[in-house]
Amino acid sequence: MKTPVKILLDRKREGMELAADEIRELIAAYTKGDVPDYQMAAFAMAVCCRGMTDRETLALTESMRDSGECLDWSDVPRPTADKHSTGGVGDKLSLIIQPLAASCGLAVPSLTGRGLGLTGGTADKLESIPGYNASLSLADFKRVVAECGCSMTVQTAEIAPADKKMYALRDVTGTVPSIPLIVGSILSKKLAEGAGTLVFDVKCGKGAFMKTREQAKALAAALVGGAKGAGRKAAALVTAMDEPLGFAVGNALEVMESVNVLKGVGRQPEDIVELSVEFAATMVSLAKGFTMDDSRARCRENLANGKAYAVFADMVRLHGGDLARFEADNADGGAAESVELKLESRGGYIANIDAEQVARVAFKLGAGRAKAGDAIDFSAGVLLSVTHGDRVESGSPVARLFAKERAGVLDEAAADLASAFTVTAEPPPERVLVIGG
Ligand code: URA
Repeated sequence: MKTPVKILLDRKREGMELAADEIRELIAAYTKGDVPDYQMAAFAMAVCCRGMTDRETLALTESMRDSGECLDWSDVPRPTADKHSTGGVGDKLSLIIQPLAASCGLAVPSLTGRGLGLTGGTADKLESIPGYNASLSLADFKRVVAECGCSMTVQTAEIAPADKKMYALRDVTGTVPSIPLIVGSILSKKLAEGAGTLVFDVKCGKGAFMKTREQAKALAAALVGGAKGAGRKAAALVTAMDEPLGFAVGNALEVMESVNVLKGVGRQPEDIVELSVEFAATMVSLAKGFTMDDSRARCRENLANGKAYAVFADMVRLHGGDLARFEADNADGGAAESVELKLESRGGYIANIDAEQVARVAFKLGAGRAKAGDAIDFSAGVLLSVTHGDRVESGSPVARLFAKERAGVLDEAAADLASAFTVTAEPPPERVLVIGG
């Protein structure tokens, strides 16, 4: 290190701006193992307390990106784009948006993750499809994108290894909630993935990582600023995460709901359809230069005419997956046991379904993992039968809970789930899905 780490720490502690080269050198040395964890933990804490300028955040992000392999899509004859979500309850939007955007002429290479705690991971949802290989090599990832326009696979160890090391350290040192560090972490992986257009879904609310609008808007602005600073086209929408998205929460149940949306069968979850069109249209508009109205119209058309589903089905096949179970009428997630939850209170209107409470129940049923590497029950979860604003009577069914491995916890989980529903005598105000852009 040209400047000793101790000096960098002194300066950052005092709130001074570090030079881009100093940050690059620090991250490269830490990735190689030349800077110990205790110094990087002190650096992360100093950043948490003092923040970073935009220049510093960009240098951090680019050096984390450059700690590993960066993918090149210049041989793909389509504009490349991806969408990233900070994660929410019932958030299966990627399963719909990525193939929908691909059906409109984009190439969508999407590196994704597994869930931890209450947060679900797109890779887990996809792995609930029998045979789906979500651990492709980078070469196979590129082949699938070239063949069908879209691939979703787990980020490999070659992508942004600095982030893997830094995130593990931040997780145990109280340094996760810092916007520059979050931007460095999220954006370094997305930049390494190589898509020319990046669209961010920053969730905000009780069931989200960002609890307040101010925090969510600040993260959205920082992600977009960083992505543009690194030469990408970028946009972000801040979206509500106080209530679950759609009716299904749980891996296989969410695949089933996504298939139903892509095929246009069954009761359509309006929130999922609206957000899918909005995000896919934003990707198409940015990547192709079409107006938003035109892009929305193309997306709605490709949902209705089955082209988006055809891309999804091709992608699943190329990943080795078999969708037969999800294409059957009355398919569920394949759970051995289920129990129905009926409303015990007086009738009225569903004014709120507490996303965090639903996530806790799904976790208890076995849908999530407490620590990395834990097994999960793909079939477990909650299938709501009502949504915001629905009229319900006393005794109406409001949800069905599913579990295979933990059938014994179903009744207790149903009792916990009951408290997630708020019922009011008057219809509630309409749900606002997009809070800001
Ligand atoms: N997700 C990430 O990938 N990194 C963070 O720091 C926070 C959320």
